[in-house]
Amino acid sequence: MQSDLSSKLHVGIIMDGNGRWATRRGLSRLRGHEAGVEAIRRVVEAAPSQGIGTLTLYAFSSDNWRRPKVEVTALMGLLRFYLANEVQALVRNGVRLTVIGRRDRLPNGIAAAIARAEAETADGDALHLRIAIDYSARDAILNAATQVAGFDKLTRETFSELVTGEQNLRDVDLIIRTSGEKRLSDFLLWEGAYAELHFTDRMWPEFDMDDLAEALASFHRRERRFGGLQPVALEDVPSL
Ligand code: FPP
Repeated sequence: MQSDLSSKLHVGIIMDGNGRWATRRGLSRLRGHEAGVEAIRRVVEAAPSQGIGTLTLYAFSSDNWRRPKVEVTALMGLLRFYLANEVQALVRNGVRLTVIGRRDRLPNGIAAAIARAEAETADGDALHLRIAIDYSARDAILNAATQVAGFDKLTRETFSELVTGEQNLRDVDLIIRTSGEKRLSDFLLWEGAYAELHFTDRMWPEFDMDDLAEALASFHRRERRFGGLQPVALEDVPSL
């Protein structure tokens, strides 16, 4: 099942601009994050028809703990709400959900809710949705490095499994960041080694199917050579 999905595109999204979208409208930042959840719904629903097999969404970085407590609490509340209310729709749409990042610092009950949602959606074969929570790509790489002592010969494949927690995870083909910011912010630094980057001025709460289609159209116009001289077709993209 996973190998089918790994023949389709892996897209990562840095969902930025919730706060600015809200404050420009005289709304609270929380309202921006709520609208961000609606954008997640739209994109998850549209992804399979756009040729996406794996979608990794950056919901909460390990550095986001630095935000005011009231905002962190609101984001954790939204996450709790999403896990409690979205799983049925995910199952109905054939979406397998997994969460990447640390779980030991999340508020009470969230780690258990994540484990339940992962178990309930485990058979999804239309889309693998990965949500990054308390996530730092550097920490993921560092954690993998701490586990390698016993290996005789460490291959990229083995190390990749330690970094990503998955077998045969496809490298990220495309990273999209909304809100006009142009940086990676510690997102998918290992998996995104050859990712194409797409930056758009749209704020995350207003991101819709047309924006996703435009990002993919731009991606498909790119020539990817992976260090060689010839363009590489999507079906021939090298793994690691
Ligand atoms: C960036 O906007 C967005 C975040 C830090 C959080 C993303 C979270 C969601 C879309 C909703 C919660 C997710 C789930 C899975 C329930 P920002 O606040 O940095 O915006 P700004 O740069 O305009 O201030």
